[in-house]
Order: sequence, then C-alpha cells, then structure tokens
Amino acid sequence: MNTTLERVTIPSFRARKNSGQKISVLTAYDYTSAVLLDNAGIDALLVGDSLGMVIQGQSTTLPVELEHSIYHTACVARGVKRALVIADMPFLSYQVSPEQATESAGRLLKAGASAVKLEGGAAVASTVARLVSFDIPVMGHVGLTPQSVHRMGGNKIQGRGTGDGAGSREQILKDAQLLDEAGVFSIVIEGVPADLAAEITELVSVPTIGIGAGAACDGQVLVMQDMLGMMPNFSPKFLKKYANLHSVITEAVQAYIEDVQTGKFPTEEHSFGNTKTKKIETVTYGGKNS
Ligand code: KIV
Repeated sequence: MNTTLERVTIPSFRARKNSGQKISVLTAYDYTSAVLLDNAGIDALLVGDSLGMVIQGQSTTLPVELEHSIYHTACVARGVKRALVIADMPFLSYQVSPEQATESAGRLLKAGASAVKLEGGAAVASTVARLVSFDIPVMGHVGLTPQSVHRMGGNKIQGRGTGDGAGSREQILKDAQLLDEAGVFSIVIEGVPADLAAEITELVSVPTIGIGAGAACDGQVLVMQDMLGMMPNFSPKFLKKYANLHSVITEAVQAYIEDVQTGKFPTEEHSFGNTKTKKIETVTYGGKNS
C-alpha cells in the first residue's frame, strides 16, 4: 500500500491525475467509520446522499435534506486526520438559484467538508463556476446520476444510447467537458460502459473517480457498507465485497444475547465493585475518553 501520513488536499488530490497513483474513495456518514477508514489510509471520504438509502432506509436519494448532509458531514469530519472530506449536495439544495447553491455549499464547508459534490453537467456548469469562484472546491458527477432517477426510469446504466439526449454517450462526454471547463477538481463517473469512462478520463484534465465505470478511471469509490458485505442479499455487478460483516456482526450479536440471557455477561471484570470502592472510574462510549 502506498499511503503517506500527509493530509490529502485539493491540490494533492488533483496531482494524482498525472502521478499514476490511483485514488481510493469510500463513503462515510459517521464518526466511527471515519476514524476506521482514515486510519486504514483511505484518500477521501464522501458523505454521499446515498445516506438516504444506507442510513435512512429510503428507496432513493431524493428525500435527503441539506440538514442531514450537514449533520453527517460534521460527524465524519470529527473523525478524520488525513483523508479529504467531500460532502454531497442533496437534491434541491443547489438547483433553485445560484445564491441557494452558494449558501448550501458554504454550510457544508462550515460543517467540516473540504469540497462538495453535485450531480449533472450542462445544467449545473454555471453553478459550479460560481462556487469555484468563491473558492468552494467542487466534484462533478456524470453518467448514472441517482437524483435523476425518475428521468432515467430507475438507476439504469447510462451512455449506451446514441444521439444527444440526456444519458446518451455524446451528452455525458459533453457534460464532463463542461464540468472540467467550469473548474471542478474531480469528476465521479457512475454506471456507464468502461470504454466511455476511459474516453472521459482521457478527455478531462482532472481525476475521474469511477463506480460501475470500469478500470480506466483515476480512482474508485464504493459505499462502505456495500464493500464490507453488511447486507447479505445485495450483490450488484459493479460491487466487490471485501468482507462479510453481515455474518461477523450477526454472530457477535447472537453471542451477546446468549451471554445476557445466561448471565455470562457482565462478570465481575465488567463491574464497578462495591459502594466502599474509593477508586475514581468513568463511563464513556465509542472510544472517546472523557
Ligand atoms: O451518494 C453517494 O454515495 C455517491 C457515490 C456512490 C458516488 O454519489
């Protein structure tokens, strides 16, 4: 593994386009995950609006509010020492007006993100340029854009059709080029054929981060819960599972239930003695010492 202890910054992230060192990105929505992933050496953490599905149990990302993204960004930022924290701009937090987009993005930076991500190409290029002019770094997102779920008729692979309609190969290439010209520092390419992602990666001056977009991208992103195998019946084609945490967690929780029911936990070892004990002891949770 090739990771340094130096903080990942927007310039160092951008420089990876030409260094040949691929960029690793995972989603995170909470402090504990952020600490784990940051210590493992991940380059960037995306506080994705996928939190709508993963955290809130929604069927799409559309119900996610700016306040949710701000809350989870603050939780993640408190756990990070090295990785770049990128916060997703939820549906309707940047489309209404340029002023709304600036305020929403600014609030995400105040919560601890170093950059924001928004979906779309031609329709958001002027918004991107405005945010960048105020020194708010922006990551683009083209191809399968989950906030366009209704236009796409589901989260379907994009870029296969010809012509210039939304979702066509030509339009996705144009979108990526417009985002590059508007000043994004990176572009997520989601759910497109590998040859199209390779063409975009050649075309643009900034790193491309793929998900379901083949191997030619400059980096990859996955949802942490998916790559750790936390949901047993979720195995889409683009996903590689690096663990089976569903089994690990289920077995550990069942062992705990058994111990509680049989009185094996807590033992004396986990108890605070009797009322005559003089020692000062404290209670805290989640690895935080009080
Ligand atoms: O919301 C998200 O997590 C994302 C990634 C999957 C790219 O947009």
